Amino acid sequence: MSGKSVAGADHGGADQPNEALRTIVAEVLRGPRYQGIDPTIVLTLARREASKGRSTRDTVKAIKTALHQIAGAYLTQGSERDLPYADWLTELAQNTDRTATCREIMRHHASTRERLPHLDAVMRVLRDALPTGARPLAIADLACGLNPLAAPLLGLPTEATYYACDLYSGMTDFLRAALPLLEIRAVVEMRDLTHAIAPPPTPAASAVTGASTGKAGDTQRLTLSSHFDLVLLLKVIPCLDQIDRTAAPRLLAELDADTVVLSFPRRALSGRDVGMDATYAARAATLLTSPWRISARHDFPTETLWIAIKG
Ligand SMILES: C[S@@+](CC[C@H](N)C(=O)[O-])C[C@H]1O[C@@H](n2cnc3c(N)ncnc32)[C@H](O)[C@@H]1O
Repeated sequence: MSGKSVAGADHGGADQPNEALRTIVAEVLRGPRYQGIDPTIVLTLARREASKGRSTRDTVKAIKTALHQIAGAYLTQGSERDLPYADWLTELAQNTDRTATCREIMRHHASTRERLPHLDAVMRVLRDALPTGARPLAIADLACGLNPLAAPLLGLPTEATYYACDLYSGMTDFLRAALPLLEIRAVVEMRDLTHAIAPPPTPAASAVTGASTGKAGDTQRLTLSSHFDLVLLLKVIPCLDQIDRTAAPRLLAELDADTVVLSFPRRALSGRDVGMDATYAARAATLLTSPWRISARHDFPTETLWIAIKG
């Protein structure tokens, strides 16, 4: 890795990264912690950090720090590739008490781990936010972490579909294989939410996985641009804001959804109370303006949920 400055490195056109940026992205992806992370978020950060006039080494370091703050810090194992996904799938396939297994797996992501003591109550709130009409339900769980493993608690009808995305390929591959074992029809993809919803993902990534057979079904297709009855953005806004303050408002404007649930943490990951309630109540109020209308707020010990409906 060179130590020379990468200021003004992005001379490869609006979308095409030049050689210096490609080198930086490759260097970040070479490290054990971020091998499986979406390269688009790395490139976004590389563009931002490379404009600051630091050395390549310091630019790579700054990108890794940012990735740690938005993603790596939540993984108990330290490195995403060390999570025992294959073992978990074996356990889920063999185990009869899948609820207990899912709870155990959810302990490996700090965000779901801190929700476990009040998981049932949170999921009851989400279930109550679902419409009661007859048409098949579609739910999206964005920047999902391991939260889709709690989807069975929503008591969804079998024809309902569940879309989930996060930044890690290993995690999304795992969830794509695990959700059918929990009888959830799911589309799971690796996606960076700081980018606009279009273009749609590849057909392979958007094939709905059949709940009963575990095989990719082609009867229905879900993408982030589909219509959703309910969209979950649980504890993700602070992560998006760290990368781009315009990303969350853009996402909320682009989503085709009847109801969104935003949640914000009440404590830092360290457990400290650093006055987040007031800061995030203000952020929720700023984000959930027309066409959104806040219909309810629910305070749990570790997070506050804001439910908003369109119109
Ligand atoms: C605080 S955790 C919340 C996880 C989950 N929503 C929950 O509440 O349990 C933030 C999650 O967002 C993901 N993430 C952060 N930035 C993202 C982005 N730009 N696009 C997609 N996912 C992102 C991280 O990998 C991490 O799993």
